[in-house]
Amino acid sequence: MTHIPFVVAENAQEIAQTVAAEIAALIRERNAEGRSTVLGLATGNTPILLYRELVRLHREEGLDFSRVITFNLDEYYPMQPDSSQSYHYFMHHHLFDHVNVPASQIHIPDGSLPREAIADFCAAYEQKIQQAGGLDFQLLGIGENGHIGFNEPGSARDSRTRLVRLDATTRRNAAGDFGGEDLVPREAISMGVATILEARRIVLIATGSKKATIMQKVLHSAASSDIPATFLQLHENATIYVDTAAHASLV
Ligand code: PGA
Repeated sequence: MTHIPFVVAENAQEIAQTVAAEIAALIRERNAEGRSTVLGLATGNTPILLYRELVRLHREEGLDFSRVITFNLDEYYPMQPDSSQSYHYFMHHHLFDHVNVPASQIHIPDGSLPREAIADFCAAYEQKIQQAGGLDFQLLGIGENGHIGFNEPGSARDSRTRLVRLDATTRRNAAGDFGGEDLVPREAISMGVATILEARRIVLIATGSKKATIMQKVLHSAASSDIPATFLQLHENATIYVDTAAHASLV
């Protein structure tokens, strides 16, 4: 078992500031060289404070997103992009509406495709990541079942962007957003484990006591599909940030 470097912070805001500062430094370095920055982005409650900090850096410190290219991890299927439950909506609401990433440089899996178009879409998504030069930085949250993106338990190390079935835990946790578990989509389009592991830098953030049990498992289990986040052990440049609540049972 390989150790994944992890940092314990006092609270979620401190993590948001630290990770936003890393992303900002990367964007500024690339901008100075006239190069693009390719970011893999996540949704959920966890990254909201981080996106708020990036918006602040844009507004108050002139952080320029004009050369940033983004690829989101996942989207529910089926899902209309203009639905308030969509990850399209989430990303625009929390980040894209407030910074200057050109719309043509934003990529989010399309949950509104007919089923027969999904395989080609997923192959093209992988290709676009490659054409952009690969992911410079991948941001991850973690599900209580250990998922990263919507790579649920059972997801293979070599999985790629594809249609996935959502785990019961994931659907239960999303019930509040959809007004009942029955209304949560059963599937999603997600980048794969292999797609994520090809990023040159990975940061996983886990905050709050609900994540304490899974974080203990992630840090003390061998890499396996049972807990997809354990695959970060196979990456040379991954860091996990936890707040004291998510770290509580690790001591
Ligand atoms: P959360 O979701 O940030 O809302 O806890 C994380 C995840 O399921 O990956």
